[in-house]
Amino acid sequence: MQNYLIFGIIYYMKKRLLSGIQPSGTIHIGNYFGAIKQFVDLQDKYDSYVFIADLHAITTIQNKEELSKNIINVALDYLACGLDPEKVCLFKQSDLFEVTELAWYFNCITTMPYLERATAYKDAHMKAKEINVGLFDYPILMAADILIQDADVVPVGADQKQHVEYARDTAQKFNKIYGKTFKLPEPLILKNVAIVPGIDGRKMSKSYKNTIPLFGTDEEIKKAVMKIVTDSKTPEEPKDPDSCNIYALHKLFLNEGELKVLRERYIKGGLSYKESKEMLLTEILKLVKPMREKREMYEKNLDLVREIFENGAKKAKFVVSEKMNIIRNKVGVKI
Ligand code: TRP
Repeated sequence: MQNYLIFGIIYYMKKRLLSGIQPSGTIHIGNYFGAIKQFVDLQDKYDSYVFIADLHAITTIQNKEELSKNIINVALDYLACGLDPEKVCLFKQSDLFEVTELAWYFNCITTMPYLERATAYKDAHMKAKEINVGLFDYPILMAADILIQDADVVPVGADQKQHVEYARDTAQKFNKIYGKTFKLPEPLILKNVAIVPGIDGRKMSKSYKNTIPLFGTDEEIKKAVMKIVTDSKTPEEPKDPDSCNIYALHKLFLNEGELKVLRERYIKGGLSYKESKEMLLTEILKLVKPMREKREMYEKNLDLVREIFENGAKKAKFVVSEKMNIIRNKVGVKI
């Protein structure tokens, strides 16, 4: 925390947290435990800003219906998962179009070889895809998102760490040319967030088709759970919890004591994989049901959802407007 002493009164300022989410379709248990839950858990500790990265999504989705449907869905998902608009400033990136202006100033001080070193770009390039300029420039738009808000911490998955480093580099480059303007953000990689395994044991990911949907119907969730891959041990045989994909998922839901009991049942034998799956299903549904109800409530009140995001954008704009004036002045476009 940063403390300020003004007129003899100490103000405890919360650090600012910022994170963006790409609207890329239905979310799964892995998204929840790997990211969303962290934002929810941190919303009291930090002055939090969480936005829907719709401009970033256009680098891959160029279809009006799909994009707008995804934006609404991600808004509903996050509200349903417990992001509280009273605590977190929720907004849509495209409403804060000052970020595109800032990204342009950054573009002009960034070289192509530097962007060619980005892992995400290299991966896309290796797949011999034709890369659009937006995708190439992705790290710079992301740097603008982060730096425009003077964010202290950026909670991201390990795969996004390099992007936060790009933001730090860009801040330093700008500060060197135009004088100190931006603070250097830190990535917040939460150590206790294990990689959530999918139903085949690999990292849960849409591209592996091994997900358990978060907001599926009971039937859809059950179907995914029953498909979790196991070996072919009979119910009586002792089983190894540490190599079991079902047990790995139980770890997300059970407390230490409960896990210990389950562990002993695995080792002793007599617990079938089917029963273990049924127990897991019960846990998942217990988590999902109240969130699903909340989602339905918001879905019936889309105007309320729009209002939440519009108010968030107003707040975010207010926060950045003074900073943008300083930046325009430093760059020299303000006369
Ligand atoms: N690149 C992030 C992702 O795909 C989304 C994102 C865009 C973001 N801008 C950001 C994350 C700024 C953190 C901060 O997950």
